[in-house]
Amino acid sequence: MPSELSPLDAEGIHAALQDALADIEGARSPEELKSIKNRHLGEDAPLTQANKGMRNVPADQRAAAGKRVGQAKKQVSQAFSARLEALNELAQAAALASESVDVTQPTDRRLPGARHPLDTLMEQVSDFFISMGWDIAEGPEIEHEWFNFDALNFDIDHPARQMQDTFYVAADSVGGNAGDRSNLVMRTHTSPVQARVLLQQQPPVYVACPGKVFRSDELDSTHTPVFHQIEGLAVDKNLSLAHLKGTLDHFARHMFGPEAKTRLRPSFFPFTEPSAEMDLWFPQKKGGPGWIEWGGCGMVNPNVLIACGIDPQEFSGFAFGMGIERTLMLQNGIADMHDIVEGDIRFSSHFGTTGRGA
Ligand code: DAH
Repeated sequence: MPSELSPLDAEGIHAALQDALADIEGARSPEELKSIKNRHLGEDAPLTQANKGMRNVPADQRAAAGKRVGQAKKQVSQAFSARLEALNELAQAAALASESVDVTQPTDRRLPGARHPLDTLMEQVSDFFISMGWDIAEGPEIEHEWFNFDALNFDIDHPARQMQDTFYVAADSVGGNAGDRSNLVMRTHTSPVQARVLLQQQPPVYVACPGKVFRSDELDSTHTPVFHQIEGLAVDKNLSLAHLKGTLDHFARHMFGPEAKTRLRPSFFPFTEPSAEMDLWFPQKKGGPGWIEWGGCGMVNPNVLIACGIDPQEFSGFAFGMGIERTLMLQNGIADMHDIVEGDIRFSSHFGTTGRGA
């Protein structure tokens, strides 16, 4: 920047003044204006230098030169202040415009909703089995008695078939006599999907079957008439209880952390032989009750394989089933089933899965 402007150089002073005024007028923001101010009124600015040069001006020319430089500087200062004020006003107006609310517009009062943790958990469980190379299979919620009971080796008078446990579809709703029950039930477990898969597919079979099941239970803190299960079925050559135990332990660790483990207790299910209750242990935040029942399991009963046209001499299998609600309650220390079924968005929102729909 030229710094040798003489206070006697009337033309130079005029040019410096015009230069400054043009720059100030062209500034688009208060910040830009500040850097311009430095250029025209700062230490090295031509007019400042000219002012400093006053001491070298001969006495007889001092008054005129001083007036010339002084006026130019004053004009620049005034232009600067005026422009700063104008720019500040513009900035404020822009801020007001961007923050303004049109109170005449209708509001969107719908809450965005939250995904139910049961859906998320079923997806996580399915993903786990997919990650092991298993398939996912689904069956109908209204199921034929044959799949729900007969194919699974349930005796004709097995108590689970009683109307106290099972929702039967009324016969007159499918063309039968009023008062009779039909052969259709609301499936009481996901195990009938085992039979559906085995009738469709030759071993090797590795499937997980998540889904909704129904029982004529009253809603209380640990029961609900509609709930969810995940079923696992593997049928292949030479499968043993060791494969079942390894799969369950792997599953438990995935769901409940690396220290989780499972324990099998002898039990009875018509469709497995031997059968076991599967207990779970995992470190819990608040102490916890130790071993807790998580599901049922066993080696697929040869009668099930035969019912589905598979030779039990050639193939063996293992199966297991557990409640999704129960899994969610154990994982999160939920004490009351009501919280899961009531559909209160505050419950679902806790799980951090907000989003529209679902
Ligand atoms: N279906 C059984 C129930 O709902 C659970 C179950 C037990 C499933 C043993 C299985 C199994 O696959 O092998 O109580």
